[in-house]
Amino acid sequence: MALKNIKITAEQKAYYENHYIDLGMESHIYRNSPNTIIKIWKDEVITNSQKENKKNKLVKMYEKRLKHIPTIICTYSLYDVCVGYEMSYDEDDIPMLIAPLDRSSKLNALKEIKSILQYFIDEGVIYPDIKNDNILINNRTGNLTFCDMDNSKIDNLPIDVYPHYAARFFKGYGQENSSLHSYMLNLYTLTELTDTWQEEVIEGISQGEYQDMFTERGKVILKQMKQVTPKYTGEYLIDYIK
Ligand SMILES: Nc1ncnc2c1ncn2[C@@H]1O[C@H](COP(=O)(O)OP(=O)(O)O)[C@@H](O)[C@H]1O
Ligand SMILES: [Mg+2]
Repeated sequence: MALKNIKITAEQKAYYENHYIDLGMESHIYRNSPNTIIKIWKDEVITNSQKENKKNKLVKMYEKRLKHIPTIICTYSLYDVCVGYEMSYDEDDIPMLIAPLDRSSKLNALKEIKSILQYFIDEGVIYPDIKNDNILINNRTGNLTFCDMDNSKIDNLPIDVYPHYAARFFKGYGQENSSLHSYMLNLYTLTELTDTWQEEVIEGISQGEYQDMFTERGKVILKQMKQVTPKYTGEYLIDYIK
């Protein structure tokens, strides 16, 4: 079955935008029912052609039946432009940002994220924005969900807005492949294990910090992250924890 589209009016769109339960960089998140939410992209951030690109990517994710993401229910359009989509919502899913995890649960989650990212690569998906508010962990099951996948590269369909550090990585490395996952998950690993932010972690790497957290190979990865070049090997710090 093809992904359904629902036409909405300008009034409906304004209603969703004015009654959001959460706000992302690119969107308003509206709770449409106990177990669905609608994501409406911000007009001032996402152009109409990016919205169409996102729609094409949603269709691809839907057709691939991509796992580890919310179930995509339908798209919404206004004047024939896709403005957002509806997806499943589970009230037990909490963003990693606020999930109270101890160190060993964090390490398990980071290993699981690595394997989900490998699965995405196998499905032709590269996701550039690996960070704690885009990954949900289920309180009951411990399952992980990537909630912000419309900004991925899927087959030949491009990323819409490059996250800052992903753009910096791309500049040094020069290719769009699984190494982007490695770099972004490595940053994420450091933010999780030190309870800091990406910005501080970038500063810490450039100061030569974090050496005592990793085995010898991990130290090599940290060095590669200091000044990214096309020789970056795409390895994961999570495999070299001391
Ligand atoms: N399906 C979902 N289930 C639960 N929370 C969600 C879901 N989708 C989004 N959220 C929440 O809304 C926030 C913003 O959504 P996100 O898709 O990341 O938007 P943006 O693309 O604007 O960053 C997320 O950080 C998350 O907390
Ligand atoms: Mg987000």
